Amino acid sequence: MIFIDTHTHLYLREFKEDRDEVVNSALDKGILKMFMPNVDGSTVNAMHALADRYPDNCLPMIGLHPTSVKKDYTRELSKLKNLLDTRKYWGIGETGIDLYWDKTFAKQQEESFRDHIILAKETGLPLVIHARNSFDELFTIMDKENDDSLTGIFHAFTGNKEQADHIIGYGFKLGIGGIVTFKNSDLDSVVKDIDLEHIILETDAPYLAPVPLRGKRNEPAYLVHTAEKIAGLKKVSLDEIAENTTRNAVSLFNVKI
Ligand code: NI
Repeated sequence: MIFIDTHTHLYLREFKEDRDEVVNSALDKGILKMFMPNVDGSTVNAMHALADRYPDNCLPMIGLHPTSVKKDYTRELSKLKNLLDTRKYWGIGETGIDLYWDKTFAKQQEESFRDHIILAKETGLPLVIHARNSFDELFTIMDKENDDSLTGIFHAFTGNKEQADHIIGYGFKLGIGGIVTFKNSDLDSVVKDIDLEHIILETDAPYLAPVPLRGKRNEPAYLVHTAEKIAGLKKVSLDEIAENTTRNAVSLFNVKI
């Protein structure tokens, strides 16, 4: 079975001690591609280093995380943008709007999100969207800006069926991670009713580890627990989950496995 982790922050310092082990244990489990969304200017070097060490497996993306968007974000974003001319990136992100932690720069977050949409359209790369307490704001922008040239993911999706359908209407994928295994989440009942063609898997490592590892540092190898949960919800084999979600990710990122 082959899996793809479409969202992992493996370059962060949480993996400083055992990064190679973590990558190898993912590869052992058949997780052959690990897509890495960027956070901000402070994370690019570590992300590039990991991508250079595992060029077939650890695949970098470029963007400015909404929680790193401050008053003068344009300077940082333009530096990140310039990197697009220097090497291969597989997606634009992560971007989006996060009104959970801090609303101070809500307006800048919206502007940055629009900038990332333009970049995704220009490059033809998928857009990786982070949504936290912000579906209304994101949908208002996306309803206006989405067109056939745009593809992407609503990552760590936790919305309801209506929000899922709205995203599917954009032609975007739902990134499903550890939250679907949490007892207090309604995501399981939502995912049950979503066709597999719209779902891709992710860990968001080191965050959001699935049950039975909830609360621990997450890592790509744990993706299998999320896949097993979805197989149970949809009453299909794990094989079928692997096959479908991998196919979806391969076509979205235009990657060879
Ligand atoms: Ni993330």
